[in-house]
Amino acid sequence: MKTLCSLLTVFLALTPFLRAHAADTSASRIARGRYLATAGDCVACHTADKGKPFAGGRPIETPFGIIYSPNITPDRDTGIGGWSDDQFYRAMHTGVGPSGRHLYPAFPYPYFTKATHEDVSAIRAYLDTLEPVKNARKEPRLTWPLDWRYLLRGWNWLYFDEGTYRANAQKSPEWNRGAYLVEGLGHCGACHTATNFAGGAKASEALEGGMLQGWFAPNITGDRRAGIGSWSTEDIVDYLKTGRNSHSGATGLMAEVITDSTSKLDRSDLHAIAAYLEDMPGHPQDVSPLQGSPTLAAGRAIYRDSCSACHQYDGKGVPKLFSPLGGSALLQSRDHTTAIRLVLEGARTAPTDARPTTAAMPAYGWKLSDAEVAAVLTYVGNSWGNATPEVAASDVRTVRERLRLEHDH
Ligand code: HEC
Ligand code: HEC
Ligand code: HEC
Repeated sequence: MKTLCSLLTVFLALTPFLRAHAADTSASRIARGRYLATAGDCVACHTADKGKPFAGGRPIETPFGIIYSPNITPDRDTGIGGWSDDQFYRAMHTGVGPSGRHLYPAFPYPYFTKATHEDVSAIRAYLDTLEPVKNARKEPRLTWPLDWRYLLRGWNWLYFDEGTYRANAQKSPEWNRGAYLVEGLGHCGACHTATNFAGGAKASEALEGGMLQGWFAPNITGDRRAGIGSWSTEDIVDYLKTGRNSHSGATGLMAEVITDSTSKLDRSDLHAIAAYLEDMPGHPQDVSPLQGSPTLAAGRAIYRDSCSACHQYDGKGVPKLFSPLGGSALLQSRDHTTAIRLVLEGARTAPTDARPTTAAMPAYGWKLSDAEVAAVLTYVGNSWGNATPEVAASDVRTVRERLRLEHDH
C-alpha cells in the first residue's frame, strides 16, 4: 500500500510535466506537418487565385479536362474536418476518398503514397490547425468517359504502385532522403516525367522531362546536355533555395514551386535532393549541332538585335542576372515549348526570401513572327556548345495559340 501510495504521488507530481510534454510533442508534430505540407506544396494546388489558402477551387488542367482542387481546411461541411485520420491516410496513400470515391491522379497520390504513415499524420495534424473555410467542391469538367470515377480503378491497376518508400540499402542515408522527397511528397515527376496517352508516368523515363499545363519541365537527371549534369551540388541547392544560380533562373510553374515549397526547405534536405538527382543517369543522346542552315544566319541577326543586350554576344549573359544560354537544358530539350513560351511572353524570375528582387525578360510575341522566333531559338540552341534539332515555326504557332486561349480564359 505504501509503495502504491508513493507511486501515486510520483505520478501526480509528474502529471503536469507529462501534460506539458504531450503538448510539446504535438506542437512539434504540427510544426513537422507544416514543413512536410510545404515539401508537398499542398497550398499551390489547393488555393484558388485570390482564394483562401487550402480552401480549394483552383482549376487544374489535365489531358482530359479541368479538375477543381477541393477544400482541405477543417471545415466539416465543405472541407475535410469530418474525416478520420484513417480516411485521410487512405486518400493520400491509395487515392481513394471516404465512401470509396476514387480521386483523379491530378491529385499526386501516385507520389504521396510513398510518404510514411507518421509523416502523413503530421500533415493532418497541421491541416487541423488551419482556420475552417466554407467553400464547396466544384464538379470537374471532363470529357466523356473520364468523368466516370470508377474507371480510375482500371487506371490504378495499370499505372499506380501503392506503397511507402523503401530505402535502397546500397545508397547513403542522404541519397535515400533525397529519393524520399523527390519521388514522394515533392512529386517532382508529376511535371518532370513524361506521361503516356492516359496520363500515367513513364517510369523508364523518370525525370527526363515532361509536358504539363502548357509548359515543358526539362530533364533534371545527371544528363550533361539535356539535363543538369553540368550543375554542381551547390548550383542545384541554390536554384531550389533562391530561384536562381549561375546557370538559370526559374520562371513560370517552377518559380511557383520554388516560392511556395523548395525555398522553404532546409538546406540539408535540398542537399539530399541534389544528391539524388545527380545520381540519376538519364538516357543521354548524342546530338550534333546544326550547321550551314540559312535559319542559323537569320537567327543570329535577330539575336544580335533583340537578345544580346542581356544575354551578351557570346551567350555568356551577366552572372546571376541574365542566364548564360550556352549549356541551357531548356534550349536543348527534345521539346522546345518552354523556351518558345519565354520568348513569346517574356519571363519573370521567382521572388524568394533569399532573393526578393526578380529579373525580367521582355515579351517578343508582338514583335517577332513565328518564323523569327523559331530562327532565333534554332540559333541559340546550336551556339556556344549547344545542340538541338531545328525549332519549327509551326511549333511556335501552336504555343502562340495556346497562350491566346489562356489569356481569353
Ligand atoms: C498538383 C496539384 C495538387 C497538389 C500538389 C496537392 N493536391 Fe490534393 N488534390 C488535388 C486535386 C486536383 C484533388 C481532387 C481530385 C479529385 O477530385 O478527384 C485533390 C484532392 C485532395 C484530397 C481529397 C479531398 C476530397 O475532398 O476529396 C486531399 C485530402 C488532398 N488533396 C490533400 C492534399 C495534401 C495534404 C497535399 C500536400 C501534401 C496535396 N493535396 C497536394 C491536387 C493537388
Ligand atoms: C508544377 C510543375 C513542376 C513541379 C512540381 C516541379 N517542377 Fe521543376 N520545373 C518545372 C518547369 C516548367 C521548369 C522549367 C522552367 C524554367 O526553367 O524556368 C522547371 C525547372 C526545373 C529545374 C531547372 C532545370 C534547368 O535546366 O533549368 C530544376 C533543377 C527543377 N525544375 C527541379 C525540380 C525539383 C527538384 C522538383 C521537386 C521538388 C521540381 N522541379 C518540381 C515544373 C515543375
Ligand atoms: C532585358 C534582358 C533580356 C533580354 C533582352 C532577353 N532576355 Fe532572355 N532572359 C532574361 C531573364 C531575366 C531570363 C530569366 C531568368 C534567367 O534564366 O536568367 C531570361 C531567360 C532566357 C532563357 C532561359 C534560359 C534558361 O535555361 O534558364 C532563354 C532561352 C532566353 N532568355 C532567350 C532569350 C532570347 C532568344 C532573347 C531575344 C529574343 C532574350 N532572351 C532576350 C533576360 C533577357
